[in-house]
Amino acid sequence: MKVLLVGQGAREHAIAESVVKSGGVLYSYMKTRNPGIAKLSREVKTGSLNDFNSIVEFAKNVDFCIIGPEDPLADGLVDRLEDAGVPCIGPRRSVARLESSKSFTRLLLTKYKIPGNPDYQVFEDMNHVRDYLQKKSSIVVKPDGLTGGKGVKVWGEHLTSIAEAEAYIRELIEKDGRVVVEERLDGEEFTLQAFVDGEHVIGSPLVQDHKRAYEGDQGPNTGGMGSYSFPDHGLPFIDSKYIPIALDILKRTVRAVREETGTPYKGVLYGQFMLTRSGLKVVEFNARFGDPEAINILPILKTSFTDICLRIIDGNLSAKHVEFENKATVVKYLAPVGYPVSPVMTEVTVNEDEIRNLGGRVYYASVSEVNGRILTTSSRSIAVLGVGSTIEEAERIAENSICYIGGELFHRRDIGTRKLIQKRIDHMKQLLS
Ligand code: AMP
Ligand code: GLY
Repeated sequence: MKVLLVGQGAREHAIAESVVKSGGVLYSYMKTRNPGIAKLSREVKTGSLNDFNSIVEFAKNVDFCIIGPEDPLADGLVDRLEDAGVPCIGPRRSVARLESSKSFTRLLLTKYKIPGNPDYQVFEDMNHVRDYLQKKSSIVVKPDGLTGGKGVKVWGEHLTSIAEAEAYIRELIEKDGRVVVEERLDGEEFTLQAFVDGEHVIGSPLVQDHKRAYEGDQGPNTGGMGSYSFPDHGLPFIDSKYIPIALDILKRTVRAVREETGTPYKGVLYGQFMLTRSGLKVVEFNARFGDPEAINILPILKTSFTDICLRIIDGNLSAKHVEFENKATVVKYLAPVGYPVSPVMTEVTVNEDEIRNLGGRVYYASVSEVNGRILTTSSRSIAVLGVGSTIEEAERIAENSICYIGGELFHRRDIGTRKLIQKRIDHMKQLLS
């Protein structure tokens, strides 16, 4: 089975590992040479991810293609590949809008009466903006399109006055033609990633990501600094009765988007949910695996990943094809000092043998291999994974592994610790009491 993987991050490194583990022969197309993916590949091609001609050419001899990141999905890479006869794991452009247009998604949920929308309004001009802002005590302003997880501004954190909110709303309308303004929710967030074959929607363990750069959930938003999952595939602060409710929202969304566009959704649908005092809310959808959340679920997949991919393509996926080990996972990202505002460039050294001896695993992200040296670029550099019978064990493995990575890097020590998880449990208890 020849598989082409597009993308060069830690998420793609985890996908690459799963392809090879399940017997696939890996071809990879990357913007910069990820040393981890390169080592697993039979053939590597580097080039711009916007160069669809080059990707389609490279895909000529493979059985199918997996697209990791959101930008090529939003720009229609799957349409190009499928039209050239290459089956894909990833949605076509019209249905990838579940991620690439936040207004499309909010309006879709409303139109098809799918629960989970907060109070929201889509604005295409400044008329009525002030009325809305004055009526609502606390709001969130969201760019309509892709921003790498960094464009959302929250009242009380990034926006402190109506004038500031109006200025940001105006800026986004000028840029994108529209903006989503919604009620600010309070609760605990979780990610539910599902495999989707156009019709069947099969969930995976819940994961919690950490958006903020610094310990104690302080500092600017990032692409995600680390994440964890529990052996029972739930989270201790989310009542398990909400898991089928979240999955049902994904299922209804898959049906609705097909009805709306005529195109079936195939690939991975990522639901970001928040459990609030007034029930489960949809924060956003992504049209792909999460980064880091892919690294929590793929390494504990018991069934064959390439088999799941073939079933997504053929439309015959069911729950028995998607089983996970009952293990805890903790992922911690190392980022260059200064990330995300002004990251330094630094050389990274990794003692993979020592990390392997500890039971840890390394996934390369925004680094580039140049003449045998590993250099950071501007984003998160390396993810480290610990897998264990308990969250404590998984956290310890991840933390100890980091001792064997050198460079001007930082990470969040608190991710996966009892103390931080207890804070989530207490927050949820206090909200629901
Ligand atoms: P997004 O890009 O939609 O994932 O938003 C980034 C982050 O902003 C989310 O992970 C949340 O932490 C926060 N966020 C988004 N929407 C809301 C909301 N309606 N209320 C509170 N926080 C939100
Ligand atoms: N972890 C957030 C994302 O992948 O968008």
